Amino acid sequence: MTRIAIVAAMAQELNGLKEHLINPICTRYAGRDFWSGQINGKEVVLVLAKIGKVAAATTTTLLIQHFKATQIVFTGVAGGIGAKVKVGDLVIASELLQHDMNAYPLFPVYEIPLYGRSHFPTHANLSFALQNACEQVMQAIQKSPPKNTNNISDASILALQQGLLELGLPQPQVLSGLIVSGDQFIASQQASADLQKNIPFALAVEMEGAAVAQVCHDFNIPLAVLRVISDKADDQAHLDFNRFIEKVACFYSQAVVFNLLSRL
Ligand code: ADE
Repeated sequence: MTRIAIVAAMAQELNGLKEHLINPICTRYAGRDFWSGQINGKEVVLVLAKIGKVAAATTTTLLIQHFKATQIVFTGVAGGIGAKVKVGDLVIASELLQHDMNAYPLFPVYEIPLYGRSHFPTHANLSFALQNACEQVMQAIQKSPPKNTNNISDASILALQQGLLELGLPQPQVLSGLIVSGDQFIASQQASADLQKNIPFALAVEMEGAAVAQVCHDFNIPLAVLRVISDKADDQAHLDFNRFIEKVACFYSQAVVFNLLSRL
C-alpha cells in the first residue's frame, strides 16, 4: 500500500492540511502527533518534523518504521542564499547537504563519515511531480483572483495572492537545486555570505532537510523537499520569518500539497 507522509516544519502549515484530512486518526508517539487519513483519495500521514536535524531524523525514522510511509514530502520555509533567490520563491531540493558537518581532517569537509558522500539527492520523479505542482500554483497566482473559493485550492490561491501582495512580493519563481541544512538559524549578513562562499551552489538554508534525506537514503524511501523562501538569512531574517509564515507560507503548502496529491 502507498502511504505518503507529509512532513511540515511549521504548526501553521500542518493545521491547514489537517483540516482537510478524511477519517483523521491521531496517534501520539515519541512526543509527536501523527495524523493519518486520506486527502484527495490518497492515504497520508501528516506530522510536524520538529526543529533541527536530530528531531527531524527521529520523525522520519518513525514515519518509515512505525507508520510505514512509502514516500516522504517535506514542506517548510528556508532562508534564501545568493542574489537570485528572493523572499516568496519556491525552492525544490535536487539534493541536500549538512553545512555544519565537519570531521576534517579525518574526512573531507561536509562529508558524512562512513557514507562516503556529502550530498544526498532527492527522488527524481517525486521531485518532478512536486515541481509541476509548484509551477501550476504559481500560474494560478498570476491569474485574476478565483471567484468561487469553496474548494481548498482556490481558497489557498486567493489567500496567497493577498499575502504576496501585502508583503510586496509580486513575482515569485520556482527554482530547483541544492538546499543546505544545519542546526543554526542563519540570521546575519556575514553568516549568509560565508555560506555562499563555502557552498556556492546553495540556494537555501534550513534546519532539517539534509537529515531527512540521510534517513530516506538509509531506508531507500523516495523524498521530495519544498522550501518557501521566508527570509534572506541576513540581519532582518527573524523579522521577515514570522510575518511570512502567517501571510504566505502556510497557504503555499496547502495549495502545493493538494495539487501534488492529485498527481501521485
Ligand atoms: N528557516 C527559515 N529561515 C531560515 C534561516 N535563515 N536559517 C535557518 N533556517 C531557516
